[in-house]
Amino acid sequence: MHTFTPTKIPAVMQKFSLLLLLALIVLACGGGEDAAGEAPMAKKSTKEPAAKEINVKKIWKVRCIACHGLYGDMGTNGAANLQESTRDLDYRINIIANGSENGVMTAFGDILTEEEIKAMAEYTMTFKKE
Ligand code: HEC
Repeated sequence: MHTFTPTKIPAVMQKFSLLLLLALIVLACGGGEDAAGEAPMAKKSTKEPAAKEINVKKIWKVRCIACHGLYGDMGTNGAANLQESTRDLDYRINIIANGSENGVMTAFGDILTEEEIKAMAEYTMTFKKE
């Protein structure tokens, strides 16, 4: 009689609070997994293809058009006429990365990535008139 009451009430309360705690943990974990599991996946699928794509026309308009013109034949500051150029890809990659020897053409090695420089060199080949 003396020890019956104090032990029974906490036992019932323990069971009840344990159930509540379990329910809360399940809810909290479920919600947490959803939020953490879905957000990065969604970001990945939209970001990765966009990052790899190089917009050569946009880079041309921002970085090169002032001297070479929209069609590569403007020749501002003595810029080479890209419609008539017979230079190979390696020469073009080098001049885009390091600039021209006379210093007129800017070096883009610190501005564009290696992939962008190669893509731009390939793009300058497309100006050539057949
Ligand atoms: C400040 C003016 C200027 C800008 C900006 C410029 N260029 Fe040039 N570019 C020149 C000049 C000048 C030459 C000729 C250099 C020489 O042969 O001495 C040249 C030469 C070239 C050549 C070699 C063609 C050949 O036949 O000799 C390529 C390729 C080229 N530029 C690509 C680009 C690209 C791509 C960009 C933009 C990322 C660019 N240029 C931006 C001035 C410029």
